[in-house]
Amino acid sequence: MNELQKELLETAELAENELAQTQDLSALETLRVHYLGRKGRLPALSAKLGKVPAAEKPAVGKTLNQVKNKIQGLFEQKTAELQESGCTTAPGLDLSLPGRRRGLGRKHPITRVMDEAVAIFRRMGFIVADGPDIEDVWHNFDALNSPPEHPSRTPEDTFYFNLQGDNWLNPETKLLRTQTSPVQIRVMQSQKPPLRIICPGRCYRPDTPDATHGMSFHQIEGLYVDKNVSLADLKGVLAHYAKEMFGNQVEVRLRPHYFPFTEPSVECDASCIICAGQGCRVCKGSGWLEIAGAGMVNPAVFENVGYDPEEYSGYAFGMGLERIAMIRYAINDLRLLYENDLRFLHQF
Ligand code: PHE
Repeated sequence: MNELQKELLETAELAENELAQTQDLSALETLRVHYLGRKGRLPALSAKLGKVPAAEKPAVGKTLNQVKNKIQGLFEQKTAELQESGCTTAPGLDLSLPGRRRGLGRKHPITRVMDEAVAIFRRMGFIVADGPDIEDVWHNFDALNSPPEHPSRTPEDTFYFNLQGDNWLNPETKLLRTQTSPVQIRVMQSQKPPLRIICPGRCYRPDTPDATHGMSFHQIEGLYVDKNVSLADLKGVLAHYAKEMFGNQVEVRLRPHYFPFTEPSVECDASCIICAGQGCRVCKGSGWLEIAGAGMVNPAVFENVGYDPEEYSGYAFGMGLERIAMIRYAINDLRLLYENDLRFLHQF
């Protein structure tokens, strides 16, 4: 047998063995290049055919073709086999391993409390309204009947944009709203009474963060304007809200207070849900928890938005949501709510 013939047959055998051990398509491709590629084994052997003596050429040429066909056939077969078994990638990748889990998100405690409060008021016929976080001095203060000398208006208590001299008294100066009450003004400017809205949203005040204060917090504002609205209506709505939010046994009381945009103004307390009004650390021994500022809409506010105070009356309230979440979930430090620590958030 001719030397080249021997070499060809050995090559065929070697290729068959190597193919049998190949487990994936990328290794198969490497092998294919090695044997059948332009600079591979078989082209190199084919090139030697030219040097074979003429008499032996036909036989050697025949072997060459047979070997070539055999190897090509083996590659095709193996490729089909691997594709069918679904193996398309490199070894070392275990396709039976479970995929990377994408943790299911959940609602932040503040969002939960907010959604719940919104649902309670919607059941009482309130419609959700919205307003910008970046307000102007007029909507946040002037239209709400806040006098220029009110201490909450100073740059120590309000975040202003482009503060220059005393431009924080200018009605057009921009600020981060310190309360959701400016939404009252926006709604009344764009709608005629009667109206019944709530507005959940973020507010901002330059407080030094501690266990009970942050630089931003959430409120729900409520506003009801119609003919013959009374303080009793306000108390009824707040009492119903407190029972829905904290439980049927909860009582509310109103204490006199002052807000420029309501007259009379009150603060609304709910009996402490921790000690059922007996007095504990959370309610500082009083048996009551403050849940809202509220009051009858000041006629001056109606005048600022073009409502006739002789014809219409209304009530408004505003409550902080952080405090409700803290009481609800027994959270003792407000900062926990904003650190995005999953170990904390996973508990809710
Ligand atoms: N805006 C008041 C506050 O932030 C709360 C309030 C709203 C009081 C509406 C009365 C009426 O403290």
